[in-house]
Amino acid sequence: MSQDNIKFAYWVPNVSGGLVVSKIEQRTSWDIDYNRKLAQIAEKAGFEYALSQIRFTAGYGAENQHESVTISHALLAATEKLKVIAAILPGPWSPVLAAKQLATIDQFTNGRVAVNIVSGWFKGEFRAIGEPWLDHDERYRRSEEFIQALKGIWTQDNFSFHGDFYRFHDYTLKPKPLQQPHPEIFQGGSSRAARDMASRVSDWYFTNGNTVEGIKAQVDDIRAKAAINGHSVKVGVNAFVIARETEAEARAVLQEIIAKADPEAVNGFGSEAKNAGASSPEGEGNWAKSTFEDLVQYNDGFKTNLIGTPKQIAERIVALKAVGVDLVLSGFLHFQEEVEYFGRKVLPLVRELEREAVATKAVA
Ligand SMILES: Cc1cc2nc3c(=O)[nH]c(=O)nc-3n(C[C@H](O)[C@H](O)[C@H](O)COP(=O)(O)O)c2cc1C
Repeated sequence: MSQDNIKFAYWVPNVSGGLVVSKIEQRTSWDIDYNRKLAQIAEKAGFEYALSQIRFTAGYGAENQHESVTISHALLAATEKLKVIAAILPGPWSPVLAAKQLATIDQFTNGRVAVNIVSGWFKGEFRAIGEPWLDHDERYRRSEEFIQALKGIWTQDNFSFHGDFYRFHDYTLKPKPLQQPHPEIFQGGSSRAARDMASRVSDWYFTNGNTVEGIKAQVDDIRAKAAINGHSVKVGVNAFVIARETEAEARAVLQEIIAKADPEAVNGFGSEAKNAGASSPEGEGNWAKSTFEDLVQYNDGFKTNLIGTPKQIAERIVALKAVGVDLVLSGFLHFQEEVEYFGRKVLPLVRELEREAVATKAVA
């Protein structure tokens, strides 16, 4: 198990409707005041990262969406330590615009911005905004060039690049980002193409919620491939956290979320999500095997099973760490209250278990 403490990120609720496609009461708002306060609560609670989402049109009930780079900057301006990961979609963004925007934000925020390159799954969204829709693996080929271009622009003067999607000729970005060698590059997706890309160019691999075995299989595959490529990549896993004083209470909340799910929105999302992993040559990846219940949390966050008492959740987090997970990306029903509760009740137990694991290893 890694000696480093496992890290925590939370999903920025910058789209309306919260993180579950359900009519259950959610004391979570997508507005900027709510999000600023949440970011402050999160950094105090021990969260190191916040991840914004990028959506251009409504899907699964998320009727309103604030843009990811803009809200990331606003949250960085409202905090002191938190790193905010801005989601960026190749297609709508070009690498030169992304590199310039993020370098400026990095300068303004004392080096705290990061980026999540997402390859796209929502064909209806691309059609709506007039973006050509590429096949699954072509989307990843474009994302990989995007990342190579970002790194080149951020780290080199007179950068030249001749790809199938992007070209640069003696381009020098000034000023460069503050972070050296460059802001951290995350990516989202679980297909073979996603894992191959992570093993070559990304700093972090983000995947949907899954069982410990399902996560282990991905970690083993990525780390084996990365070793061959002489690259190292960290792994973050999504989880929808329901921490309550008793397991029965936590389970009851999950049941209520699912019972009050919006079937039309969930099924609409499920059918669009077939353009993700299921459309890859292997037919594997995010949502390829998701049930109706899984899809109610739109990144399969119930599957990770961080649902129960603080102790149960802490033990499961440490089990994830034992198979190579470096970060837990968490969503909540009532974000402000539950992020604070997580920091107070769950996180100290995780740190205790981590210390015990190190001590046991030292004795052995
Ligand atoms: C943690 C995480 C965050 C993501 N955020 C976004 C996002 O903000 N916008 C988006 O369009 N897709 C997002 N995605 C979707 C991925 O980019 C990708 O299209 C999807 O996971 C399917 O990938 P796969 O076919 O490789 O499994 C995210 C995925 C993950 C795992």
